Amino acid sequence: MPSNKSIDNFLNSFSCIIITGSSSGIGRALLSRIEKSSTSATVFNLSRTPPQDVSNDLNFTHLTCDLSQPLEIKSVVTELQKLMPPQGTILLINNSGIGAYGEFPAPHLEHTMKMVELNTSAPVYLTGLLIEKLKSRGGQIANVASLAGYQPTPLMSTYAATKAFLLHWSIALDAEMKKYGVRSVAICPGPVSTNFSKAAGFISSTGLGGQTADECADEALKAMAKNKPQVITGWKNKLLGMFSARLPKPWAAAIGLRMIQRLKLDRFIKK
Ligand SMILES: NC(=O)c1ccc[n+]([C@@H]2O[C@H](COP(=O)([O-])OP(=O)(O)OC[C@H]3O[C@@H](n4cnc5c(N)ncnc54)[C@H](OP(=O)(O)O)[C@@H]3O)[C@@H](O)[C@H]2O)c1
Repeated sequence: MPSNKSIDNFLNSFSCIIITGSSSGIGRALLSRIEKSSTSATVFNLSRTPPQDVSNDLNFTHLTCDLSQPLEIKSVVTELQKLMPPQGTILLINNSGIGAYGEFPAPHLEHTMKMVELNTSAPVYLTGLLIEKLKSRGGQIANVASLAGYQPTPLMSTYAATKAFLLHWSIALDAEMKKYGVRSVAICPGPVSTNFSKAAGFISSTGLGGQTADECADEALKAMAKNKPQVITGWKNKLLGMFSARLPKPWAAAIGLRMIQRLKLDRFIKK
């Protein structure tokens, strides 16, 4: 198990760190850990709003971008390429994402389509625009997928499918890119207390508990330091993921539906 020092060494090995969605939740916790590492890397955040209270010791730049809009991604990468240090390895963390709960297409089709863009197209496009630099300089792509990506998940059907896409894409990318010195890591959290449930349409915490964003980020960074192709964070989530991934998919969907219905999450949804 890598120590905190190994995480520091890992973060110090990059000349450039690009993270999406570090204004909140898991992304902010990853950024906090990057701040603590005293890395000399140039660090960029891409999201609609800047993260608050970033240490002045970090060589940090926020670039405003709505990643659900391909044209905004294209123009932010043009700006990014001008500001990136010209040499050294690159860490790209595709973390921005939103969820949705309820029968398809709840809460509404527009939200669902935005979620598909943000959770799947944006990481593919952003990585694609940076891939030549990654291949020539080496580095790592970390993709924040989800435990929900391991099985078809009724009442979160589209969200879970976006995360299954990201999980499979990330693992396949790792196999393809190894020869260039580029690794890809799929990070799969279970429930984490962040603003995620609010953005998914819940009015209050669903009380599902789970990990804190700091616990999740710490476990993710340990796996990233070891170049693990995939990590499910939290030991209960690991067991659940291993079990559900082995079930025939229609069974997993039927069991999942019953389990989710039992949680009575409708109580927390904005009407
Ligand atoms: N929390 C969980 O239970 C959980 C479980 C498994 C996986 N995940 C995954 O973890 C990742 C982070 O979620 P979180 O839990 O930390 O949620 P969060 O606290 O809501 O943070 C989401 C981040 O995504 C950014 N974002 C949202 N829409 C965006 C857009 N259109 N363009 C650019 N950035 C956007 C937000 O920044 P701005 O609002 O400033 O744009 C924010 O920084 C997501 O991919 C999520 O699917 C979360």
